[in-house]
Amino acid sequence: MTAIIQRLDENLIKKISAGEVVERPASVVKELVENSIDAGAKKINIALRAGGKQTIIVADDGVGMSRDDLSMCVHRHATSKMSSASDLFQIHTLGFRGEALASIGAVSHLAIDSRTRDADEGTRLIVEGGIEREMRGIGRAQGTTISVRNLFFNTPARRKFLRHVDTETRHTSQMLVHLAAGYPSIGFELKHEDRQLINFPPTDRKQRAADLLAVPVKGLVDIVYDHEGLSIEGVVAIPEHCNRSRGKQYIIVRGRPIHSRSMVEAVTLGYGGLLPDDRYAIFMLWLEMDPRKIDVNVHPMKREIRLANETHVVAAIEEAVKGGLRLPDSQSFVYEGGGSSFQPAQVGEDTSVSFSAPEVDSSAIHSGPDETGIATKRDLDHSAQMSFSLVAPATLPNGDEGLSDGDIAAVRDRPKLWQMHNQYIVLQIADGLIFIDQQAAHERINYTKAMRQVEALAGECQQLLFPLKLELGSADFAVFVEFRDDFAKLGFIFRDFGERTILIEAIPAELEHWGEGEFIYQLINEARDGRASGRSWREALVLAYVRKSSIKKGQKLSAVEMNRIVEHLPKTPDPHIGPSGKPIMAKIQLSTIDRLFT
Ligand SMILES: Nc1ncnc2c1ncn2[C@@H]1O[C@H](COP(=O)(O)OP(=O)(O)OP(=O)(O)O)[C@@H](O)[C@H]1O
Ligand SMILES: [Mg+2]
Repeated sequence: MTAIIQRLDENLIKKISAGEVVERPASVVKELVENSIDAGAKKINIALRAGGKQTIIVADDGVGMSRDDLSMCVHRHATSKMSSASDLFQIHTLGFRGEALASIGAVSHLAIDSRTRDADEGTRLIVEGGIEREMRGIGRAQGTTISVRNLFFNTPARRKFLRHVDTETRHTSQMLVHLAAGYPSIGFELKHEDRQLINFPPTDRKQRAADLLAVPVKGLVDIVYDHEGLSIEGVVAIPEHCNRSRGKQYIIVRGRPIHSRSMVEAVTLGYGGLLPDDRYAIFMLWLEMDPRKIDVNVHPMKREIRLANETHVVAAIEEAVKGGLRLPDSQSFVYEGGGSSFQPAQVGEDTSVSFSAPEVDSSAIHSGPDETGIATKRDLDHSAQMSFSLVAPATLPNGDEGLSDGDIAAVRDRPKLWQMHNQYIVLQIADGLIFIDQQAAHERINYTKAMRQVEALAGECQQLLFPLKLELGSADFAVFVEFRDDFAKLGFIFRDFGERTILIEAIPAELEHWGEGEFIYQLINEARDGRASGRSWREALVLAYVRKSSIKKGQKLSAVEMNRIVEHLPKTPDPHIGPSGKPIMAKIQLSTIDRLFT
């Protein structure tokens, strides 16, 4: 009787294992791009035809391969990235198994062109269905170009499972976005049938995050944590930018994008109560830790990793996000302006601060037209007589005092400005410090302006590229109809569009985030609440508008933005109290600070 169990032939083994690594065009692109990253590429170009079903080309400017390496690279378990078992516990590259090219070569027509820096010429290797067909010299620049044609030509069952061209293309672009998040200094380009779908030029982490998250840099808050060998760096969007989709959550561990429910939860917890129930956090976090604490070898496609210290990492993420959003227990005291830095100076118990903005460019203070358009002669006269002594004394426990006219003069005279905790603007004046609550101040400025608009002028607007149709509930529609003139003066341009439906054609010029119309629903709702608390409809509407459109706590300000606030605040009729009734400014005397050191 012949034996039933037989050894599979080598080619069949390759096809089977290829199934584990290569599932669809996106997984081929992932393996090839990871190889390019490991090869130190600075620019990676990817081109697809028919969603990658027909052709996938990945070209890089990395170190390239010699002729000898080329003949090795398509063999299973052939890798330059690991040579001993102990290496498996400290992996520094994305690849380590020496499996990807062999697997891809087994199920496609594969061509690899490559050249190292020192070689006289490049080499081309052609593999078909796992069999080496050709190897010859070619002229080319340093780097590697790999083309994969007719994916799954010899495994028809798998080919049948491939989806529509658009779907396969989408898988590839989504995967690339995740990889690009981990490597901002590398440029990525994706083309499909000569159409450019992705173009991420090399940049720094923050800008890459802003590009991928589609949140402007100023809507992002920095996250930093560095403790006991774990470093977390990243950005989270301030709550106003968070939306109803989970699509913008990125965690990258040592360059690998990973999925981790517990880490996502930790970020959400880090927002504290700041995130409304129906919103999801938007963030990008880069984690670095000892490679020996990570097991990357738990998934055939390297999609999952295991962390030895997951509980610790999760707690650290929550703490770091809290710190970034400046919830209690933020502990840093870092001064980044003026080139010097110094260590924590403990002022009382929990008063540590973090200054983040550089010293203001004094030319910005007095230059440029009055952008808010609120400085009338009357306002200026008013501000000249104004005394800052209304500053709420109760807000500072020790030594706070009112502000004098002299202080105002000092403020105008090239103040040094910093932003503190992304929440207060701090001005250094001759005899102390003045603190301005950025949100209350900006609300006051905007309130003054918006009130003037609805009372007299009309606001400037920005035309929408695609007018937005909004359907309102009947109660909301009634409010809208009654105050349509006020809406118009704020800068909304709209047309009636059937029953309870309006077509918004333009929005106020300064409104940045209006959430595709959601702003209007919220505005109407908040105005209704404001009305319930005794304000006139117009005041309630303007206040709701101002609250939604002003700078918020937690928002990092540029020097120009801070200057604008400092310049325009004194020109408002009531610079001490915000439109919601909160104090705007406080002063701490130098003598009070001096006393802390005696
Ligand atoms: N774009 C490239 N530039 C330079 N060398 C490359 C490139 N792609 C592959 N190589 C070389 O070919 C080898 C085999 O690549 P392959 O992807 O099959 O395995 P790996 O990256 O080592 O491990 P893994 O299977 O986990 O990806 C690599 O170790 C590397 O030396
Ligand atoms: Mg690889």
